[in-house]
Amino acid sequence: MTDQPAPENPEGDEPIKQRKNGLYPAVSDELAENMKSGWADTELRDLRPIPQAQETARRRAELSARFPGERLVIPAGNLRTRSNDTEYSFRASTEYAYLTGDQTQDGVLVLEPAGDGHEATLHLLPRSDRENGEFWLDGMGELWVGRRHSLTEAERLYGVPCADVRELAAALAEATGPVRVVRGHDAGVEAALTDKVTAERDEELRIFVSEQRLVKDAFEIGELQKAVDSTVRGFEDVVKVLDKAEATSERYIEGTFFLRARVEGNDIGYGSICAAGPHATTLHWVRNDGPVRSGELLLLDAGVETHTLYTADVTRTLPVNGRYSELQRKIYDAVYEAQEAGIAAVKPGAKFRDFHDASQRVLAEKLVEWGLVEGPVERVVELGLQRRWTLHGTGHMLGMDVHDCAVARTEAYVDGVLEPGMVLTVEPGLYFQADDLTVPEEYRGIGVRIEDDILVTEDGNRNLSAGLPRTSADVEAWMASLKG
Ligand code: GLY
Ligand code: MN
Ligand code: MN
Repeated sequence: MTDQPAPENPEGDEPIKQRKNGLYPAVSDELAENMKSGWADTELRDLRPIPQAQETARRRAELSARFPGERLVIPAGNLRTRSNDTEYSFRASTEYAYLTGDQTQDGVLVLEPAGDGHEATLHLLPRSDRENGEFWLDGMGELWVGRRHSLTEAERLYGVPCADVRELAAALAEATGPVRVVRGHDAGVEAALTDKVTAERDEELRIFVSEQRLVKDAFEIGELQKAVDSTVRGFEDVVKVLDKAEATSERYIEGTFFLRARVEGNDIGYGSICAAGPHATTLHWVRNDGPVRSGELLLLDAGVETHTLYTADVTRTLPVNGRYSELQRKIYDAVYEAQEAGIAAVKPGAKFRDFHDASQRVLAEKLVEWGLVEGPVERVVELGLQRRWTLHGTGHMLGMDVHDCAVARTEAYVDGVLEPGMVLTVEPGLYFQADDLTVPEEYRGIGVRIEDDILVTEDGNRNLSAGLPRTSADVEAWMASLKG
């Protein structure tokens, strides 16, 4: 079930004698004996329950009520190899973290049918064994990768009984009765269940958890605000070092934002888009290896992910030298106007599609006004002709995944109605490709997007990312104040 929790120890309880890579001599009996003892007892730390323990319990109860009498298996996922014996940094699956608050690699949440509901168990790798040498001779031993929670500590933290994950695969393989697993995270768990599950039934479980996340609770909204606040500071960091980016490349911007994300949060929530000049017209420009030039625009789309795995998703399009040119300003102000119209359409009871339609209409009007597409506007919108330059949808749900709730059913999300507690991005853009011969030359290579994170409230909405300026004049004043 796990890539590498257990040491390779073919003789069962026999001590490990050598590290797997074999670069060093085998361990003598004397050294093996010596390493077993002489360590202080650090078994139990005094840990407080995680602050969202009530919310995770409620989410599990909702899941239990939806799938009565069925065993539900939700894995955190495993490490993935980057090269040879180095791995990508671990990020727990959203479903597992949402339902437990835990982020331990190889962890598995199992809801076992019991009485009218379910009993939850978190299956985790316990602390390293000192007797068999695992703690210092196995690559996943605590001496190499750091202390883990004991199972007792984990129970206190997450409010869920814990068990040794190394026994789970065999138990699942033997168990009878209906079972579903969230696929895509742990091939070992899936292999243990392969004869007992179907893709369709498993997908229903994934869809349910995706839809559970459509409306955020107060804890989640607080975490999203933290993510956005850190992101605002990250954008300020970038503005302060634009001269260094000009002297190097877009990478300086990527690294600067990443520093803020790692210092204040868990990570970046998605690959930062640090797109200067014509790169701004490539929607997901994450190579970030181009020049940053005075007189051009920088489209920065980036978000800090909190320690609890909630991410911001914010875009600002900034003049590298602090002042928009006349044409840049005209395009920027049009996108701003489209964003204003989009944000105004975000309110309880509105259709999810309304804000997209509102933004697209404004952009279509501008494109007709500028003579780039033949009107009337109604025809342009009906045929979607503005999309040559607007390219993407105007926003999406935001949460633990940047494109959150991605497998929610169409009727619950895209064709659904906004409710208080939903958080979504509003992010219209205009993109004139460098090789677009249908627009005057001076437009080519200009891309503008403005993206904010909007909470649906009881009576309208709140812009969580209002800490960053949005109008062209406010952006210029903000940049000037930061550059000093
Ligand atoms: N950063 C990807 C997006 O804005 O959807
Ligand atoms: Mn974005
Ligand atoms: Mn977005």
